Amino acid sequence: LNQHQPIIAIDGPAGAGKSTVTRRVAEQLGLLYLDTGAMYRAVTWLVMQAKIPIEDQAKIGDLIKEVQLDLIPADSPELPTKVLINGQDVTQAIRTPEVTSQVSAIAAQAAVRQELVRLQKYFGARGGVIAEGRDIGTNVFPDAELKIFLTATVAERARRRTQDLKNLGHQSVDIEQLAQEIQKRDEQDSNRVIAPLKKADDAIEIITDGLTIEQVTQQIIDLYWRRKAEGR
Ligand code: DC
Repeated sequence: LNQHQPIIAIDGPAGAGKSTVTRRVAEQLGLLYLDTGAMYRAVTWLVMQAKIPIEDQAKIGDLIKEVQLDLIPADSPELPTKVLINGQDVTQAIRTPEVTSQVSAIAAQAAVRQELVRLQKYFGARGGVIAEGRDIGTNVFPDAELKIFLTATVAERARRRTQDLKNLGHQSVDIEQLAQEIQKRDEQDSNRVIAPLKKADDAIEIITDGLTIEQVTQQIIDLYWRRKAEGR
């Protein structure tokens, strides 16, 4: 019997709590966690490392054709997926503010998206996956059994990012500047031509302001079991 394992799609803007919640749901439901943002970040890191100008789409197109990208699940839901690009461990390096500030420009490029979406579909081909990103429900897995659009106000997301950065040891964080950066990234990701950040028509929106990680995780798990019980 060729029984298809379900797919859950989690989309939404930066800082809505997607990664933490997705990792927890993955753990509790025994699904593979696919962090697609990490893939765009890894390519951005490689482009910067190779000193290719971010707007040189032709060169980046050549680079992406040769790229070897490996995602290795972490041992614990508290840890990020290990990311290797061309054999090099970039798990930490892809989270720097430098990469974060360039990634939207890379993620807007057709050649990059085409290759990464192809890889994402390949990773998800057998199902049993919860994938997190911007275009999962609309583009990568349009037939996902459950689609969630996770969001929060800009102020709330800036507050959370500040806390994350402080936890990483960054002492002086400018919350106003962070809010502006978040807004700018939202605009770039929402207004790009190819596969913009957008709620799928059949996605369920969860606004996470004032909700704990546990509450959001539980909501998604409840929705998942309800879908299953409905036989969808
Ligand atoms: O979720 P994140 O912050 O790690 O994502 C990094 C960037 O990658 C983000 O600015 C938008 C882009 N991205 C995308 O365009 N499509 C996805 N499926 C995932 C991320």
